Amino acid sequence: MDKRKIILDVDTGTDDAMAIIMAALSPDIELKAITCTHGNLPLPNTVDNTLRVVEMLGIDVPVYSGCAEPMAQWLRPGRVMNPRRQHQVDSDGRVSMIHEEHLPLPEPTIRAEEKHAVSFLVDTFRKEKLTLVAVGPATNVAMALRMDPSIADNIEELVVMGGGVHCSNATQSAEFNFYLDPEAAEIMMRANCKITVFPLDATTSALFSIKDGEDIKAVGTEPAEFFGDLVIDFCRRMEAIRLSNTDDPNQFECAIHDALCILYLIDPKIATDLRRQSAFVDFSGGYADGALLVDTRSYMELMGETYIAYKADKQRIKDLIIEILSGNA
Ligand code: RIB
Ligand code: CA
Repeated sequence: MDKRKIILDVDTGTDDAMAIIMAALSPDIELKAITCTHGNLPLPNTVDNTLRVVEMLGIDVPVYSGCAEPMAQWLRPGRVMNPRRQHQVDSDGRVSMIHEEHLPLPEPTIRAEEKHAVSFLVDTFRKEKLTLVAVGPATNVAMALRMDPSIADNIEELVVMGGGVHCSNATQSAEFNFYLDPEAAEIMMRANCKITVFPLDATTSALFSIKDGEDIKAVGTEPAEFFGDLVIDFCRRMEAIRLSNTDDPNQFECAIHDALCILYLIDPKIATDLRRQSAFVDFSGGYADGALLVDTRSYMELMGETYIAYKADKQRIKDLIIEILSGNA
């Protein structure tokens, strides 16, 4: 099978790092470039973390720095409602970050490209047909689509981690990526190309445990040990902000959200419940701000070509991760 040529837009972050590793090591993927946006951390941190992962992997993939703020969300005073911050201070004063400011890798000696990520996306998609994988707030993607909507003609498929149909994590109705830039998420969802979305419904249906992290580490290579440690650390952080509600480390679990977008490109069968639906992102600024809304009225004409994943095959995902890290994929 021909390699799928992709550009990966990230806000690195723990699970973004997992996605980068899978894209870089899979024989079925050609990772052409990585573009960075604000999100899990401020832009300088997401760029720095991305460079750290690229350097650890020893790959020759250019990294571009993009937008540091959402398109419009911060302009309206009071609009940012009670989002789940990326850190929590719980009853005994413990501050815990969902994503560490710096991934536990050496400071990078490589640098990001001079060109802005949005300009890179526009220039590249004007010339080439590629798959675009967006696993952070959609600001870079939306700005590129606004600069030149015709680039969608060359987006072979837009694979997105974002939203939650029946679940949320940033507010009572929105998932983090879509909530951080609702306008950009809706602009992205209106792109005139095939769009496949992995919302929280799918990513939280395939939770990983500390034991899964140890099984991945057992592959024994540096990327495998780093990937496995990310899983273990993520499990502990999820517990620290009381997302798993247990004191037994063997019960700690985490969703490796972003990695699923890459693994789906390698084996679409990991998505065990994929439905074509019309989908929208609310940007009204109210209680549903940033919410992913799907139209379930069967008699309505479908808008665009959008697929929403509701379930994923955890065992197949884990096996694929170990195959790729072992070089057996
Ligand atoms: O809600 C999960 C998403 O938000 C993931 O992409 C994670 O990296 C954060 O960006
Ligand atoms: Ca992300």
